[in-house]
Amino acid sequence: MKVVTCIAPVNIAVIKYWGKSDEDLIIPINDSLSGTLSMDTMCAKTTIIASPELQENIFWLNGKEQSFDNKRLANCLQEVKQIADKSLPHLNWKLSIKSENNFPTAAGLASSAAGYACMVTALAKLYEIKGDVSYIARMGSGSACRSMYGGWVLWCKGSSSDGKDSIAKQIAPAAHWPEMRVIVLVVNDEKKKYSSTDAMKRSVQTSELLKHRANHVVPKMVKACIEAIKKKDFETFAEITMKESNSFHAICQDTYPPCVYLNDTSHTIIAAVHAYNEFKSANKVAYTFDAGPNAVLYLLESSVDEFISVINYVLPPMDNNGDYYKGLPVSPSQLSQKLKMALNASIQKPGGLKYIIHTKIGEGPKLLSEPQEHLL
Ligand code: DP6
Repeated sequence: MKVVTCIAPVNIAVIKYWGKSDEDLIIPINDSLSGTLSMDTMCAKTTIIASPELQENIFWLNGKEQSFDNKRLANCLQEVKQIADKSLPHLNWKLSIKSENNFPTAAGLASSAAGYACMVTALAKLYEIKGDVSYIARMGSGSACRSMYGGWVLWCKGSSSDGKDSIAKQIAPAAHWPEMRVIVLVVNDEKKKYSSTDAMKRSVQTSELLKHRANHVVPKMVKACIEAIKKKDFETFAEITMKESNSFHAICQDTYPPCVYLNDTSHTIIAAVHAYNEFKSANKVAYTFDAGPNAVLYLLESSVDEFISVINYVLPPMDNNGDYYKGLPVSPSQLSQKLKMALNASIQKPGGLKYIIHTKIGEGPKLLSEPQEHLL
């Protein structure tokens, strides 16, 4: 019997992937760029057992049995086996796979990216594959390829029709910008969003603006953002991140029928970030939104406590919400009267946010070898 356990991180794009040129292989129409979040706070974990005694393949995800017929899972598995050494005795043994996220899936946070990155890392280890397998993670979920590396990661769309050069590359390690922090504002919203997969397909079919974005806007933004990250130029990085999130949601709005992901709470956060940056006469905080109302904020460590206080002011927590802050510690302070005035905010009623996660940029997937760490 063989057993492998891995953990893999969530990533949050600052330049978004939106639209495929090949639905089956998951080849994107534009490059994208992301920060990988620390696995100390959020990660996916997968254990795979290969055994000659198993009668059939089994897959458990967050405690529920899943079908093994899932096309994306099958594509990943087939590709890994295809490049594996055919003389491995366990190549044709059945598999038992168990995957879990250590963060609530209800948070609507890139869980499939971490999940597929974790699964492909574990499969690659099981079948002793060396070298880049981000193109295989991509076949599970596009954004998963970026979770195969830590730090700051570029997913190049590539040009080959088989997708072999549509891979992720690290552009800077986590240690490059150690002051960078990430705050996830999990919005209290029960409405089900449209899946990214379906929505981006509809955008490709119906949005004229999407072509302009992919061909003219994104290439410039990617180049400038890589440069800003390399120089640790937060002012430019923040401006690009916010403009890019807005550009992506403009495409969602231009999709027919439109995909509306942001809600009133999201707009309150956007207004608070701009008012705060204006008050500071510099970009101190950048927001970005994926396919849902939750805000992800990129900011430097020195701004965390004050900006958490800004958020608490405009979006007050419910009383007795004991588990409100997750991840790295925060110490919200009193806001000055001057700053409160400058925010000029319409203060929302308590409970707009479910909770707040404070984390940082972290490493790529990791193999766990202690027996007590296996899920199976
Ligand atoms: C808005 O990677 O979830 O988060 O490839 O169809 O599985 P599929 O889509 P997915 O899309 C992520 C879209 C996004 C932007 C991003 O992460 O780049």
